Order: sequence, then structure tokens, then C-alpha cells
Amino acid sequence: MIAPRTRAEREAAVRTPEEQREHERREVAAHYQNDPEIFSMVLDSRLAYATGIFLDPAESLEAAQERKYDWVRRELDIHPGERVLDVGCGWGSNLIYLAERTGGSFQGVTLSDKQRQEALRRADRAGVASRVRIDLAHIEDIDLAPESLDAVLFVGSIVHMHNRERIHQKIAAALRPGGRLLISDCYFPARARGDRESAATQYIFVEALGYCRLISLAEELGLIEQAGLDVRRVEDLTSSYVHTVARWIDNVRANRARIDARAPGFSRLLQTYMTVGRLSFARRTALEYMIVATKGGGRERLGVAPSPEPRQAP
Ligand SMILES: C[S@@+](CC[C@H](N)C(=O)[O-])C[C@H]1O[C@@H](n2cnc3c(N)ncnc32)[C@H](O)[C@@H]1O
Repeated sequence: MIAPRTRAEREAAVRTPEEQREHERREVAAHYQNDPEIFSMVLDSRLAYATGIFLDPAESLEAAQERKYDWVRRELDIHPGERVLDVGCGWGSNLIYLAERTGGSFQGVTLSDKQRQEALRRADRAGVASRVRIDLAHIEDIDLAPESLDAVLFVGSIVHMHNRERIHQKIAAALRPGGRLLISDCYFPARARGDRESAATQYIFVEALGYCRLISLAEELGLIEQAGLDVRRVEDLTSSYVHTVARWIDNVRANRARIDARAPGFSRLLQTYMTVGRLSFARRTALEYMIVATKGGGRERLGVAPSPEPRQAP
């Protein structure tokens, strides 16, 4: 049992799992139901709403996201015919990239119907629609047959899910022996730095994004291990997230009028939550990690690939 750290988590802790699921369905979906056109003014061309991987602070957002997609592709090592589940697939960023470059078959899950429609449209345009299915559902409501999946990814999505232990148990049971799990998301340092109950934190976690639960890296790794998986790799992407969010903020500023024409006041919400978020990652009061785990040994891997962290601190 992981202790609640914020008011939103304390409120979640007294809801039944079904009530919390309903809360997340409603509150989290609201952010992602905004017009995809708005996000296309802010994010990279594939609409990744998660950190890229910068090797140099001067790189473009597009280059950093391309490196991240490719990093995810290599870590998941999807073979033809393998079944892949993208939990919180957004507008299809990773899912379509992987479908274009592997012979896998893909199931995405999102809480937003607008995201589902946009992801299906993009899959069609990319010529991979026959291997892509997107469900509008909360992951806890999706039936997954035991040992039916070869790879599962959560990129920027697990942070929205309160009942982490249930989710890890469910995913681990659905992975076949040798299956891979990849998570890329935000964490709190184990020992608190800064005020986690501040109005700014509440603004990001509740008002802007509906519901967020940042646990510590050790807690997430513990849940993964307790579900029976082996942690194979952890990368600190905190500095890369600082650069990613800085690019998003520049794009919000440059497109303020066009964003507000589609959703009045939304540019301010984006700029405010992103500015607070960027500062938190720059001060390391919040951290960004990528975690890779396998069920059993998985395919043999020798050697260690170079770290993707930037050469210079921000
Ligand atoms: C920040 S976006 C990340 C999207 C995508 N993975 C990417 O990297 O571009 C978070 C996504 O998680 C989805 N999500 C959040 N909670 C979810 C849940 N409980 N079940 C299914 N999807 C969820 C949202 O609908 C959204 O698509």
C-alpha cells in the first residue's frame, strides 16, 4: 500500500476502485478531448505528449521525439505477428511509429474519443490500419487474456492511474513469458523536495490534467517486481523533459491566438501548467524515468547501450 502524498490522492483513497475509475474516466479525459488541432500546434508532428530524448539542448523537438520513438522500438523489439498493447496511446504517436516499422499487431487504449478518432485517422493515412485497433476505455475495464501479449507500453499515461498495484498485476498476467513492459513517466523523489501540497501542484494534477499520482521510482519498481516481472533497465530522462517542455511552451506562445480561437483560455492553462512542470523537472522536485521490464528472461541481451541523457545539464 503506497501512502497518499497529495489531497487528490487522499480523496482517491476513500473512493471505491469503481468510483475512482469513473473519476479518472471523466476528469482525465476532459484534457484530451480538446481539439487535436491544438496539440498539433504544440507537440511534434506525431503528437507525442511525453518526453523526447535530447542529446544536445540545441536539438529540435522533432529530432528528440524521433530518438525516443526509436529507443522505444529497440527496447520493445517487436517481431512480426507479436501482439502489442499501448495503454494511454494518445493520438497514436508511438503506436503508429511502431506499426510502420514492425510487423506487430497493435491495440491502443485511450479515455478520449477525439484521440481515438485522430489515432485511427493517422493509422489509416500511414497504411497500417489493418494492424491497429483503438479502444475507448479505462485500462482496468479492458479484458486481457492470460499470456496473450508480447509487449505493453505506458508512455506518459500511468501517472493518471491511481490503482497502480491492480494495473501492474493485470498487465503482468497478460504478458506471455518473455514479454516486455516499457513505462516512461513522471515520479516524485522518494524523499520530498518542495511542497507537494502547493496550489501549483494542485493546479497541474487536478485542474489542468484531471488526476495525477506521482509515486517514487522505487515504489513503481517494487510494484513491477511484486507482479512477477524483472526490471531490466531504468533511464533518467529528467533533463530531456526540461527541454521537451521548454519547446512545448515556445509553441504555445507562438500559437496563442490560434489555440484560444479553438478553446478560449486553453493557451493560458497549457502555458501555466507546463511552466510549473518545467521548473519542477529543472529543480528535480519531479523526475522523469523510462523503465523496461520483462516477464522472465526475455530475449537474451548482451552489452549496454549508451545513455540517452544530454551531455550538458540544462
Ligand atoms: C499524456 S497522454 C500520452 C499519450 C501517448 N502515450 C504519447 O506518449 O503520446 C496520456 C494518455 O493516457 C490516456 N489514459 C490516461 N488514463 C488512462 C486509463 N486509465 N486508461 C486508458 N487510457 C488512459 C489518456 O487518454 C491519454 O491518451
